[in-house]
Amino acid sequence: MSGNNQKLSEILKQHQTLVVVGGNWGDEGKGKVIDLLMGSFDIVARFSGGSNAGHTVFTPSGLKIVSHQIPCGLAQNKICVMSRGEFFNLKLFLQELEETKKVLLQSDDPHPGPLPEGKGAKKLADIYIDQQATLWTPYHSLFEAYIEATRDERKIGTTNKGIGPLEGVYKLRLSPLVGHLLDEKLLSHSIHALYKVLEPSLASLKGLDASIKIPLVEDVVRELLQDAPKIKDFINDSSFFLYQSLKQGKKILFEGAQATGLDAWWGTYPFVSSGNSVATGASLGTGLSMDNFPSTILVAKTLPTRVGNGPFPSEMWERQAAMAFTKEHPDLFTKGAARDGFLSANLEKINSGKASAAEISQYFQVLGDERGATTGRGRSIGYLDIPWLQYAIRINGPKYIALTRFDMLSGVKSIPVVVGYKHHGQILPPGKLPAAWELGDVEVVKENWPCFMENIGGISEADKLPTPAKEFLSKLEKHLGVPILLVGTGPGREAMVVR
Ligand code: GDP
Ligand code: IMO
Ligand code: MG
Repeated sequence: MSGNNQKLSEILKQHQTLVVVGGNWGDEGKGKVIDLLMGSFDIVARFSGGSNAGHTVFTPSGLKIVSHQIPCGLAQNKICVMSRGEFFNLKLFLQELEETKKVLLQSDDPHPGPLPEGKGAKKLADIYIDQQATLWTPYHSLFEAYIEATRDERKIGTTNKGIGPLEGVYKLRLSPLVGHLLDEKLLSHSIHALYKVLEPSLASLKGLDASIKIPLVEDVVRELLQDAPKIKDFINDSSFFLYQSLKQGKKILFEGAQATGLDAWWGTYPFVSSGNSVATGASLGTGLSMDNFPSTILVAKTLPTRVGNGPFPSEMWERQAAMAFTKEHPDLFTKGAARDGFLSANLEKINSGKASAAEISQYFQVLGDERGATTGRGRSIGYLDIPWLQYAIRINGPKYIALTRFDMLSGVKSIPVVVGYKHHGQILPPGKLPAAWELGDVEVVKENWPCFMENIGGISEADKLPTPAKEFLSKLEKHLGVPILLVGTGPGREAMVVR
């Protein structure tokens, strides 16, 4: 065990449970943090989101796995629980399972090895899916397309996975559920009931675009029933399973998806996802009482990003331009001379104070390969945003912070950091935000913070961080009032400092 891991497991000894949540607008590196933490836990349970999430982990031998619905725990063959708070898409789940299995089989890592399959094994792997989780049908995604079409220029910019309708239809008490897959009558009944209500909207959608196909209910039911036997042994009462596991002394890591800014209640509504992404979502989504969740780790991205639409106070450039830039320059997002030349020219401009907002944003977009793990869309990038994080800390009450992508500041002389939001001429107190529809209008107050000229990429020992990097972290910690336990120094498995 490396010194780093030993230090971490000492700290984690005291936690039977730990909740991991995103502090910004997603893609903070929750997957990587979970991958590092899960060595000290028996079970990884997802409590929110669905196929809209994309969590990247690497196997020890460096193979990449992007998990969408399945908890990241599968990469280390931990027991994986998909609880009631998670939206379930059967087709994409099976696809993801196959893809993950392929990667794990390729890998020559000593730990998880291939998943036991067939040969008397009761389950493909230790994956459990809650019997009462909401079940996706094509109607959810078609309904979403219809809603987005009606929003004109106020589109959410969703991942098109039907997430809004999955939550909405559930609250309307019209949702097909995972357990219905095991009973043809129940399944058919619930999908018919849903279709009846959505039919006029789906017809309107077809009116907007005649090429769209609306499948027959019978076909939807038949397809689901065809695949249902493949997950029959996974379906359980996940809440009771988790409850019993805790009673037996098992340690559980709760994997959040999306982030504070995308939480349906506490994010930048309506530009949010539809699940309960903040820490309290762990209790809601799993059905475990609140006293089971004393500790949370908030994953914050040194330079936050956003895909889709909605307010982003510390954004460096413009959303549409930043997203289009990624699409238009695939060469810069591939390793090679073009990328290297682009990065060194832009860094020089940044350090001489001559870079435009566009050039600063483009530098960090390319450096961080900021493309969505689920949709491949370009991510727009912002400056480190302290008032936003103070809000995220108020909402999630974390014990620790994991600051990812700190290596992005390597070689940068200094960087603007947002230290306050001014609203109607007044600086807002820490933890306070204006109403969501006014967040885009706040005036951000920036300070220039010195960075570090050394490349910290891949460093895993706290002592090896250069002094200015340590000073940056201590200063940030003072503003946030929460210890920064983990500091990301690269995408690889070992590239994390435990402080
Ligand atoms: P998640 O959705 O929060 O799990 O994050 P994603 O996997 O969608 O995106 C995070 C991206 O950042 C992935 O490509 C990770 O490999 C990468 N990453 C995570 N931590 C670090 C870090 O500390 N430094 C760098 N350079 N990349 C990181
Ligand atoms: P992870 O877990 C980043 C964004 C979408 C859109 C909004 C609503 O990988 O951090 P939805 O399809 O959920 O209805 O889209 O939320 N979004 C994410 N952005 N990371 C994610 O997940 C996201 N999940 C949803 O881009 O703006
Ligand atoms: Mg992601």
